Amino acid sequence: MCGRIFPVERIERLLNSNRRWAEELKADDPQFFERLSESQSPELLWIGCSDSRISPTSSIGLLPGEMFVHRNVANLVNHSDMNCLAVMQFAVEVLKVEHIIVCGHYGCGGVKAAFDDARYGLVDNWLRHIQDTMHKHESALEKLPDYEARLDRLCELNVIEQVISVGETTIVQDAWDRGQTLYLHGWIYRIGEGIYRDMKITVRSLAELDAMRSQTYKAETRPVGSVPA
Ligand code: CO
Repeated sequence: MCGRIFPVERIERLLNSNRRWAEELKADDPQFFERLSESQSPELLWIGCSDSRISPTSSIGLLPGEMFVHRNVANLVNHSDMNCLAVMQFAVEVLKVEHIIVCGHYGCGGVKAAFDDARYGLVDNWLRHIQDTMHKHESALEKLPDYEARLDRLCELNVIEQVISVGETTIVQDAWDRGQTLYLHGWIYRIGEGIYRDMKITVRSLAELDAMRSQTYKAETRPVGSVPA
């Protein structure tokens, strides 16, 4: 698939694949798309990296309509990012999702660029936030044996920091104040395995978020890349 194909032909192939996909779904459930067109009631919001090698909905066995999705480079949740906040607000207050999964991945190009202090242009400003995480955990990262271990750990720490960031939004805190059920999860993915790992930092209240925040450094003492599958 990586070979050069004349672009127009490639686009036609995409449209043909789409028709086959829709036909297959309709063969299983003839009213599937009709029902979808009426409403959506996803129970999950996914906040993940834009990386092309990750295919969130299908890789966890979900169908269209089952998960609301927001993706950006390096799965960052910044409190000044209106795009991410708008997605979260709509998902929590209108769709009433019960779970928000922040999913990062090892070998993330965004995390690596920030770690290497590489220069790619505008995106460097976006990745600044990862450098903040890196500086915050600098002493722990420096204790790790090599570059790969530090990068893996920074990918893990980035997920933890983003889960905290989600929990610190007025959107989530207001939901918890109202007594709305809302779980925040941190997952990490190793592309070479195709397997997601639960980082076991799930929180469902402000008190749990505070406790999790104070335990953040636990991740710094666990062997790198050792989040169990
Ligand atoms: Co990435």
